[in-house]
This record gives sequence, structure tokens and C-alpha cells, in this order.
Amino acid sequence: MPVDLTNEQPLAWDSATLDADTKAMLDNLQPNILRAHVREHLSVLFVRFNDVAEGKAFLRHLATTKMKSARNHLEELRDFATRGRRGTPYVGVGISKAGYRDLGHSVEDVRKFGDKAFRDGMKQRIAEVNDPPVEQWERTYQREIHAVILIGDAEPDTVAALRDEILGELPASARLLGEESGQGMRNPAGDGIEHFGYVDGRSQPLFLKDEVDKEPKKHWDPAFPLGNVLVPDPFAPDPARHHGSYLVFRKLEQNVRAFKEIEQDLADGLGLAGADRDRAGAMLVGRFKDGTPLTTKPKAGGGPVVNDFTFDADDGSKCPFSGHVRKTNPRSFGREVIMARRGQTYGERTDDPWDDSPPENRPSGEVGLLFMAFNGSLLDQFEFTQQQWANNPDFQNPATGHDPVIGQGDRDIKVTFPKVWGKPEMSPPQAQVAQTVTMKGGEYFFAPSLAYLRDL
Ligand code: HEM
Repeated sequence: MPVDLTNEQPLAWDSATLDADTKAMLDNLQPNILRAHVREHLSVLFVRFNDVAEGKAFLRHLATTKMKSARNHLEELRDFATRGRRGTPYVGVGISKAGYRDLGHSVEDVRKFGDKAFRDGMKQRIAEVNDPPVEQWERTYQREIHAVILIGDAEPDTVAALRDEILGELPASARLLGEESGQGMRNPAGDGIEHFGYVDGRSQPLFLKDEVDKEPKKHWDPAFPLGNVLVPDPFAPDPARHHGSYLVFRKLEQNVRAFKEIEQDLADGLGLAGADRDRAGAMLVGRFKDGTPLTTKPKAGGGPVVNDFTFDADDGSKCPFSGHVRKTNPRSFGREVIMARRGQTYGERTDDPWDDSPPENRPSGEVGLLFMAFNGSLLDQFEFTQQQWANNPDFQNPATGHDPVIGQGDRDIKVTFPKVWGKPEMSPPQAQVAQTVTMKGGEYFFAPSLAYLRDL
């Protein structure tokens, strides 16, 4: 029986009764898809092959010598929890539609990928998601990228050594088109944050029973069927047991200085004073900096970051409909749209992102998010989120505005904000906040099964 991708029951991957097909799936799936892999330090390599045989041999060697399976990863996590034994680094691979062609797959063959956005490639999808023109992207992303190689670990030296080793094994016919490096940032509570200073990565679709069991589930069910991220790998020896995932990669630059000015202006405009001032930024993100959901509390909370909530009791007077987390996961509907986010922050800065330093001390560029997410469908998940939700000022309610964090396109309509948390009094209509996140380039990839890569 093929693996059931629609099953709502989270996977008990460690159970003795796990069926043979699901076991085979986990043995042939890349890590970091069903469960996030440690990638505090991350190297991202963009490669072009140029020779079918050499490209194949390189990927086969990479898969057989340096890549572990999803199951290996889960076993490592278990061994770390029980015996404190450290795991091995993450090596992941994604191949673009151009990459598949360069590895010898015909145009007809590539049509076996059900996802039109993937078959088009990101450069052909600008109009669909209001991206900047390709000429404005960074040079690396203007070129035809065939594959992305992700190398992640808790230790920078491990990543650096593995990066050098892998690059040393690239055949002479291949080219390294460019690379990025990501580095995690944490607040004093130890939670991962992004450059605007907010806790990030907390809300995820969970697929594994041990992860789901740890979460409170009174209001929000974090368990999702495998189909939100997995599809049969069309070129694997046995697509019913060998799966892959569509990977979106986008380099999103953040103008932190501008965002911090906007937070202040909004707080001033709404007359917010003292601790209430933090509500301005929270209205843009939908969570306070410490991760407290704005729909649940008027002030930041302390304690573990809550994810067991919905917006059902909120007409927009607590968390605006445009707030980033409300746009990208309305919670009362759209579960099939939710993707597994696996991004990492990039760029060096000398200030502390979570302190109260004034905007002029903040970077205005060169830092941001290497946005990455695994999808069962780029069209129905990543692109749908970006266009139908984030870029759509009328989503959920008319004239509520773009997503202030990631919305793209003209922000011409005016919006209002609640003056007091949970009370009907709204601000006069005002211009939407300016765009502070700029897409610098990216590509769509497919993270194939290990069975495909080992068979090349
Ligand atoms: C630089 C760009 C971005 C920043 C600064 C950012 C920031 C954040 C923050 C602070 C959170 C709250 C943490 C959490 O709930 O896990 C969040 C959640 C989320 N973001 Fe973003 N994000 C960015 C880009 C994107 C993009 C491009 C998308 C998709 C098109 C996206 C989709 C989501 C989703 C789905 C959630 C979880 C919502 C939930 O389940 O409650 N983000 N983001």
C-alpha cells in the first residue's frame, strides 16, 4: 500500500508496528522536511552542472557519502535526548526544473512534476506574486541555478569544513554560481529570532507523534497530514515509497532601521505610551517580540511561546487582520495552505536585535531572512500565501491592507488600527506602513528522495 499522504494521524515513526512502506519512505526522505534540522550555522551553495554524467556522479556521491535520511535524523534526535550523543551535520539537496533538464530529463519528463510553479521556475512567476523584476535581483539569482546544497550544523567549523569538502568534489564542468551563509540569532530567553527582533519559527505544521504530543491542543491542532509537504518523487525507482518536497528559496532583505522607525511612528500616531508602545510592532507581526500572540494578550507575556490559539474571538480589535501571522495562517480555515518553514537569518550586525537601541543604530540593509519552506504544492501553498493572502489588501475583510511584513505591490488603500486592545475605537484611516522587506532573488527546487539521488 502506498504511503497515505492524507492521513491526519501524526506519524509514530519509532513504533514497532510501523508499516514497511512508511519505513521505506523515511529511509529515502531527506531530513529537515518532516522535522526541522539544527542549522544554527548554514551554508547555502547554488550550483550549475553543465555535464550530465559529471552532474549525476557528483549528486550520487554526495547522497551516498554525506546525506542522511529522515529516519537517521530522527534517531539522532532520540539518541541526543536519551544519551546526549551529538548528531551529524545536515546536508540537503534541491534541484530546479533547469537542473532536472541538465541531468538528462526531457521536457516531457519534467512535466511529471504536478506543480506548475515549479515547472515554470521563480523567474517566470514574478507577475503571480508581485516580485521585483529579475534585473533587480542579485546576480547569482539572475543566472540559471540547477541545484541548491544546504549544509547545516550547530558548529560553524563543522559547516565550513563540509562546505570546503563538498566544493572540492564539484566536477570541473560545474560552477558555483553563488552562496549564502545563515546564522541563527536568539533572544535572552533562548528563542530563535529574526532581524526585526521577533521570535520566529514557533508555529509549524507538525507531522510526527512525538512532536505533536508535546504541544497543548485546546484551541489549535498543530498536527498536519504528510501531504502538506510530501509528494511522490516522480523519478524515483518507487514513487509510492520514495518522496520528495518542493522547496521555495527566497533571499529577503530586511531594512531594520526603517521597520523600527515605523514601529515608533505607529506607536506615536496611536498615542501609545510606556509598555503599550510594544503593541505597535505587535500589530504588524501579530505577535509581540517575545512571541506572545497579540490576539491573546494586550502585553507581552513571558513564559514559553504560546501557539495554542485561534483568532475566532477577535474581530480585528486585538490583532489586525493584516498582522503577519494572521495573514499567513488565519487558523480557522486554510490548513491545506500551511507549509513547513525552514529559513535562517543572514547578515552580520553589531547591535542586539532585541534591545531598545534607537532606529539609527539599526542596519538598513545587508541583513535579512533566507526564507525556505517545504511544500506539497508551491502553487497552492507558498504562492497562494504570498499572493492571495499577504499581497491582498481585502483578504478576510475589505480594506484591511497588505501584510505589513511581506506584502508586495502598491499599498495604495488606507487602513485603520485599533487604538485600545479589544475595544472598537479605531484610528482614523492612514497610509499603510512602507515595505521594509525586499526580495533579492530566489528559485523553486524539488528536494528529491535519496533513492533517486543514489540511483543517478
Ligand atoms: C523577512 C521576511 C519575514 C519575516 C521577518 C517573518 C517573520 C515572522 C515572524 C516573526 C513570525 C512569528 C513566529 C511564528 O509564529 O512562528 C512568522 C510566522 C510565519 N510566517 Fe513569516 N516572516 C517573513 C517571511 C515570510 C514569508 C515570505 C512567508 C510566506 C509567504 C511567511 C509565512 C509565515 C507563516 C506561515 C508563519 C506562521 C504563522 C502561524 O502559523 O501562526 N513568512 N514570520
